[in-house]
Amino acid sequence: MILQNKYVLLGITGGIAAYKAVELLRLLKKAGAYVTVIMTESAKKFVGITTFEVLSENPVLSDLYFDTDASVKHIELAKKADAAIIAPATANTIGKLANGLADNALTTTLLAVTCPVMVCPSMNSDMYQNIRVQRNLDILEKDGWHILDPDSGVLACKTTGAGRLPEPWFIFDRIEAMLTRKDMKGKRVLISAGPTVEAIDPVRYVSNHSSGKMGYAVARAAEKRGAVVTLVSGPVHLDSPVGVTRINVESCDEMAVQMLSRLGEVDIIIKVAAVADYKPIDPKSSKIKKKDGHSELTLNMVENLDILKLIGEKKTKNQFLVGFAAETDDLEKNAVLKIKKKNLDMIAANIVGADDSGFKADTNKVKLIFRDGSFSDIPLMKKNEVADILIDHIIEKML
Ligand SMILES: Cc1cc2nc3c(=O)[nH]c(=O)nc-3n(C[C@H](O)[C@H](O)[C@H](O)COP(=O)(O)O)c2cc1C
Repeated sequence: MILQNKYVLLGITGGIAAYKAVELLRLLKKAGAYVTVIMTESAKKFVGITTFEVLSENPVLSDLYFDTDASVKHIELAKKADAAIIAPATANTIGKLANGLADNALTTTLLAVTCPVMVCPSMNSDMYQNIRVQRNLDILEKDGWHILDPDSGVLACKTTGAGRLPEPWFIFDRIEAMLTRKDMKGKRVLISAGPTVEAIDPVRYVSNHSSGKMGYAVARAAEKRGAVVTLVSGPVHLDSPVGVTRINVESCDEMAVQMLSRLGEVDIIIKVAAVADYKPIDPKSSKIKKKDGHSELTLNMVENLDILKLIGEKKTKNQFLVGFAAETDDLEKNAVLKIKKKNLDMIAANIVGADDSGFKADTNKVKLIFRDGSFSDIPLMKKNEVADILIDHIIEKML
């Protein structure tokens, strides 16, 4: 959402990773950004301009003096830009920019921008470690530009070390973070997400349909807004949100230990996890075998710990506690009862069971209910949008 209708300059320089800029451009366009690509002469030796012109639906700026159209194109672009990214950024271009040189369309435009800038260095690891390159990166960072550290691994030049351009999805994620207002800076947030699994025997378990998508969206949103986020996660098939500390757990008991031991270190606790209400009383240490094809198996279950209630009992008055309620009936009534019973500050109640809301969906329809009895309806929208609105309300209530 943050990139919707934003003017983005994508600078591409003459590095072997220039091909990755194609995918980055695609992601920026998909997010609704207006992108103008600026290429150095060397960049054009690695990837042709046609691909970028077609994907960006814009002419590529490369020759400062060509097609000026009686306008000063680079200044016009610089003025309009909401963000500028150089990916990949060569040692050469980094050096020029650190020293205020402007000898081509990219460096000239970049010296004129006032928007946030992200530089993504990519080169051979010895070049990257070179003291002059490091000095130039330091200068750019101290001057307020964002430097995205390169990945480590085997590089195109067959050496191993730091210097590889991060994957396009990662660069895109950090561009979003760069543009997001940091209204959670200084806040420490503890989030639980996903299901728990309760062992029946070493190969079977009792669990639920929680995908973890909502909790992960909240973790991503809080991190992008500047919070220090710890995510205690049950087993899910999701990538870890960038910049978030993820702790994997399986059972409710494990989740309780991880959540409760961190309570003293956080300002906000958001319990999104769908913790199994019951667990088998007596999980077997070896696999339960079938017998004659007609045998019956009775599973005796016992109630699990109520993690949310335990946190509610321990929380201080400066901490803000949010619970999620996944209900199938009497949504509001049950949510209000839960706020009181568990000492919550807010509850996000969602109806599970509908295709477009609840556990596995990418969208959710949520009713936020507060301690003072007020409430706010969030209409059906993507879970990452729901997460941002949820955080807006937490910040408002904490002020
Ligand atoms: C095959 C090849 C690959 C290169 N890869 C890189 C690279 O990954 N990073 C880098 O900083 N320079 C790399 N260079 C060197 C740059 O292309 C060179 O320094 C050039 O002057 C950069 O110009 P620019 O910064 O204007 O794009 C490479 C050169 C060649 C011939």
